[in-house]
Amino acid sequence: MSKKTVFFTGGAGFIGLHVVPMLLERGYGVRIFDNMFRGDRDAIAKLAAAGDVELIDQDVRYGGAVHQAMKGCSHVIHFAAVSINKSQSDPYESMDINMIGNHNVFAAAADHGVERLVFASSASVYGDPEHLPMNEDDKLSPLTPYCISKRAGEDLLGFYQRRANLSWIALRFFNVYGPGQKTTAYYTSVINHFVNRLRNGEAPVIDGSGEQSMDFIHVHDIARSAVLALESEQANLPINIGTGIDTSIADLARILIDAVGADVEPIFNPRDVLVSRRAADVRRAQEILGFEPTIDVRTGMTDLIRTGG
Ligand SMILES: NC(=O)c1ccc[n+]([C@@H]2O[C@H](COP(=O)([O-])OP(=O)(O)OC[C@H]3O[C@@H](n4cnc5c(N)ncnc54)[C@H](O)[C@@H]3O)[C@@H](O)[C@H]2O)c1
Repeated sequence: MSKKTVFFTGGAGFIGLHVVPMLLERGYGVRIFDNMFRGDRDAIAKLAAAGDVELIDQDVRYGGAVHQAMKGCSHVIHFAAVSINKSQSDPYESMDINMIGNHNVFAAAADHGVERLVFASSASVYGDPEHLPMNEDDKLSPLTPYCISKRAGEDLLGFYQRRANLSWIALRFFNVYGPGQKTTAYYTSVINHFVNRLRNGEAPVIDGSGEQSMDFIHVHDIARSAVLALESEQANLPINIGTGIDTSIADLARILIDAVGADVEPIFNPRDVLVSRRAADVRRAQEILGFEPTIDVRTGMTDLIRTGG
């Protein structure tokens, strides 16, 4: 049997770099397709020196390049995207990369008859949830071009499934954090903000009562879910990947204060804030992927602080 190769868009980014070593460990070859806009060239060079990794420095906006580069690959992971904040400042670029890019990758995967495609969707497809936990069958109300492209991506996968039997899984990642994350990350920027203040001997400042919450999930667990999705028996559906636990901003501040070992109390800045809360319904991930998160927020955040992130 010939070796299985994963065509991996965005594989040089934050989450991708945690997935690649797991793929190598499982015996896959990895062909990273990344325009290196946010990719880490040194990290890729190290991986390529040690294992079967090649980098194609190209852009998902070019359908011909995607189609050509995917030749011979048995699996696809599609992570290349521009982020939510950039999608608000430049919707044109976001549509080009996230919508056209999605289509280029999915159409090529259908054409090459790959065994499985795993797509990085996002919890942001739900918009502001009406209740917790957020279930895959809940109403979707994506609010920004980024979120709209994630939702459209899921729908487009359904189209290529019906048309060409493409086998796919869309992973709706919740709030990913962990080593290697850029300090500009949108949803998790609150972590950096608190940590920076704590390191300067200042208390974290919380707007409102700190009830707003997120479902923080460690990048190591996110990476495991991508590998499980690549190999699961069941497919053709979206799956939440979170911990199921909503951590409030006030709790996060306390966890980080403990992790840094600072002798301060959070400052509450009385203000009306829109309280948004997030927590994934994790039952489908358990049933379909056998996925359980292994790193709880306190442990993950503490490690991040102690190792310098
Ligand atoms: N990090 C999170 O909290 C989070 C949450 C939900 C979903 N996601 C999704 O997971 C995926 C990976 O996220 P990440 O945090 O690793 O992001 P990242 O920005 O670190 O990685 C994205 C990678 O895609 C590459 N890329 C960007 N535009 C490209 C283009 N036009 N052509 C080819 N490559 C291009 C970048 O160079 C980068 O290496 C993304 O699709 C993201 O939307 C992330």
